[in-house]
Amino acid sequence: MDFFKEKDQQWFVEAVSLLKVAKNVGTPTYVYSKAALIAQWQAFDNAFQEHPHQVNYAVKANSNLAVLNTLAKLGSGFDIVSGGELARVLKAGGDPKRIIFSGVGKTYAEISEALQAGVGCMNVESEAELKRINDIATHLQKKATIAIRVNPDVDAKSHPYISTGLKENKFGVAINEAKRLYILAKSLPHLQIQGIAFHIGSQILSVAPFVKALQKILALIQFLNDQHISISHLNVGGGLGVRYQNETPPSPTEYVTALLSHIKDPKLTIHVEPGRAISANAGVLLTRVEYIKESSNQDKPFAIVDAGMNDLLRPALYQAWQDIVPITKDPAIQPRTYDIVGPVCETADFLGKDRSLALQEGTVLMIHSAGAYGFSMSSNYNARPRAAEVMVDGDSFYVVRKRENIADLYHLESLLTPS
Ligand code: LLP
Repeated sequence: MDFFKEKDQQWFVEAVSLLKVAKNVGTPTYVYSKAALIAQWQAFDNAFQEHPHQVNYAVKANSNLAVLNTLAKLGSGFDIVSGGELARVLKAGGDPKRIIFSGVGKTYAEISEALQAGVGCMNVESEAELKRINDIATHLQKKATIAIRVNPDVDAKSHPYISTGLKENKFGVAINEAKRLYILAKSLPHLQIQGIAFHIGSQILSVAPFVKALQKILALIQFLNDQHISISHLNVGGGLGVRYQNETPPSPTEYVTALLSHIKDPKLTIHVEPGRAISANAGVLLTRVEYIKESSNQDKPFAIVDAGMNDLLRPALYQAWQDIVPITKDPAIQPRTYDIVGPVCETADFLGKDRSLALQEGTVLMIHSAGAYGFSMSSNYNARPRAAEVMVDGDSFYVVRKRENIADLYHLESLLTPS
């Protein structure tokens, strides 16, 4: 179902006009569709049919409380990677027992907060971390439920910055090391082995790398069973890609069905951790053209907009392509080829290159597929207050994060001497 649609020369999210949002809230503003978030989460959940499973939304993709709360109400689990994400999920009403804590650098404080909150599973990424979790659990007189994150050494065929399952990547432990660590974990009194996990990367466009990794991990589960180490859940990570331009990623159903076809044990609970596939296409970023800058140095003009790489980093960091469309149509303006750039003082500050668009000063544009890794990767670089966030629910919209103001930029700072 299409939650973003054009009607009468104007773009709508559900029943709300984006022009109205831009007029009321200003720009730059992220706008999310609640219905789209729900539909994508349910697509994963329904795909499992009767097979025991847990869909853990990857909080890093978009950690706005309203987004998390929307998914928590559906019974979602959550994949977190920091104490900050833990606090957000709890604040948004997430069930601690359905939280999975991943990440290579968990601090003492983060581990102890997670154990005290009663998170469902700690995904361990090294021997040192395994011992640290056991020490902290001993101190707290608790038993920590763990899975070991295994690096299956599979090429996800994605951008090198978002591939995580190759042996040269910092994530997880090699299969042979995992065998040793499970035996060690079994001997540590404050650890309870429950699962096994992998995550090979992000924006993966075919099921083949997932299946390849899965087969290696299923063989490892068999080995562990033979050692009387029982594994009750298998976490296959996130990483399912989405359509930004003309990619044709598998649907959640195709992806889950492909995985399940290799899993013979009907009692093995499968966890998935989609982030992008749930929220990317549930959000857009609204930005306004400040200037049309004609350039005698190159054959095309620049459209300078009020959102920059500090608001949406993906084009600058990964050379990512995201569709850019004016939210209103004015037949009087002729399309031209533009580079769409932000106001930040970096040459990498572009949002799109060579886009044929009908623009003038004041045109409001929407940047598609911005609901994942958009606001969550934004910063205050160039002392720019961060954008507002809005969620649309049917025919109403809500500001779910106010635009930062100038005082927010330095309210934590102080001078050397009292002024
Ligand atoms: N689970 C783990 C352990 C992860 O590290 C990640 C993402 C996910 C799940 C969710 O992956 P997803 O389903 O969203 O692909 N900033 C980059 C993406 C970085 C992904 C990092 N890990 C981007 O904008 O493309």
